[in-house]
Amino acid sequence: MPSEYRLILKHADQPGYTPDLECYLRHGGYEVLRKALTLPVRTLPDGKTQTGPEQIRDEVMKSGLRGRGGAGFSCGLKWSFVDRKSGKPIYLICNADESEPGTFKDRQILHKDPHQLLEGMIVSCFANDVHLAYIYIRGEMPEGARLLNRALAEARAKNFLGKNILGSGYDLDIHVHRGAGAYICGEETGLIESLEGKRPYPRIKPPYFPAVLGLYLCPTIVNNVETLCNVKHIVAMGSAEYAKLGTPNNTGTRIVSLSGHINRPGYYEIETGKVTIGQLINDPAFGGGLRVGRKLKAVIPGGSSAKVFKAGEKFKLKRKGPDGKDVEQEVDMLDLPYDFDSLVAAGSMSGSSAIIVMDDSVDIVEALANISEFYAHESCGQCTPCREGSLWMSKALHRLTHGEGRKQDADYLVKIADNIPGGRTICAFGEACSWPVQSFVAKFRDDFVAKGAADEERRAKARRTTLPEQEAESASTK
Ligand SMILES: Cc1cc2nc3c(=O)[nH]c(=O)nc-3n(C[C@H](O)[C@H](O)[C@H](O)COP(=O)(O)O)c2cc1C
Ligand code: SF4
Repeated sequence: MPSEYRLILKHADQPGYTPDLECYLRHGGYEVLRKALTLPVRTLPDGKTQTGPEQIRDEVMKSGLRGRGGAGFSCGLKWSFVDRKSGKPIYLICNADESEPGTFKDRQILHKDPHQLLEGMIVSCFANDVHLAYIYIRGEMPEGARLLNRALAEARAKNFLGKNILGSGYDLDIHVHRGAGAYICGEETGLIESLEGKRPYPRIKPPYFPAVLGLYLCPTIVNNVETLCNVKHIVAMGSAEYAKLGTPNNTGTRIVSLSGHINRPGYYEIETGKVTIGQLINDPAFGGGLRVGRKLKAVIPGGSSAKVFKAGEKFKLKRKGPDGKDVEQEVDMLDLPYDFDSLVAAGSMSGSSAIIVMDDSVDIVEALANISEFYAHESCGQCTPCREGSLWMSKALHRLTHGEGRKQDADYLVKIADNIPGGRTICAFGEACSWPVQSFVAKFRDDFVAKGAADEERRAKARRTTLPEQEAESASTK
């Protein structure tokens, strides 16, 4: 029987567990920080030595931790890109923007266990020689910001932050910065611009890779809330133990936000890849199945920008056979393990690990119109293909859902969507607004064509009935 595996959310929902420091300390809080700050220099088999911060970076690399913010990029690799020779300060930013529709996992940590995030951040900052860090929190989460600021004050009072932390000689402060509620502020370079007090226009990469030219054009690490919490656990248990959680190349746990037409929407922490999409939707331990009398129609597996899956879809995936060799296997969408790699192999992504379930009561054209309206509203407008394309797609879908559709709208939508991504835009928002359109139309083409055709037919009929009346009226007035 599949079940939750709570590592990050171990305490969060326990009765009596509160977000204050006393409670965190009672549950072993900040012990990992003490361990991290006092790691002795280690001698490697080749005779080289490693300082404490170097050991932590090495452990994070070996743990296989991948970013939980969307792209699933290796955290250890990201940290290895940081320019440590520039002589400039290195900054760390915790991305708490959590703006991808369908996603509500980071806020569970912020609201219920903010000190866990702070401990993960302080350890990560220590590992990367960071002395000033920021938490960029979505404007719509005032309670999260309040709790974080309270937690920061508590941590400063106990010298978990500030000068000479716990007598180690290491100095660090962390500030909370509230956004104003724009989706694009979640994109790391847009976030950095916003933090600098400017419009959140994403920056071109290259040259503005945050690891080299980030905040104030200094080397900067941007990591998601959940990613930084994982660092604490990697240091606590060691990379080898951590890597036993989950599956190869998809290590650790993931907090999945499950929403839509299921009986038990909510957030569930699982070992990555050990639970399938179907289990997440149907198992009583998770989504608990669809509403009575309803059938599954579609699943968006990784937040609104992920490509949609159609119920009954099958994929050819490479799996290890009994002899260890790769064999190709046909896998139903519901049997896909919920991990980074399987979903990419199936043509979508686990993104921010937000599963949106749609049953057969959903008008798929309406659903896409809703998503596209969001993206048209949130495009920052710097790049013409994204600014115009997202708006054109939204307008076409508005037409289709307001009785003004045309049969060829399906092709028109795909033509626009195909011309936005592929290096034509500054940031990945171009892909994010195109993928839903490309996948919805490809997989539910008949719904789009039928709607456009019905609208055309209705308009033609209306013309046929009103024209003779108009002709008669004009003849009588002559
Ligand atoms: C349009 C857009 C929106 C994004 N929104 C978020 C977000 O809300 N939270 C987040 O952690 N990452 C978001 N990201 C990903 C960030 O740019 C960045 O990759 C991430 O914070 C890195 O953290 P990680 O490596 O720990 O995942 C977004 C990316 C794009 C392109
Ligand atoms: S792709 Fe869109 S959101 Fe990203 S920079 Fe260009 S216009 Fe802005």
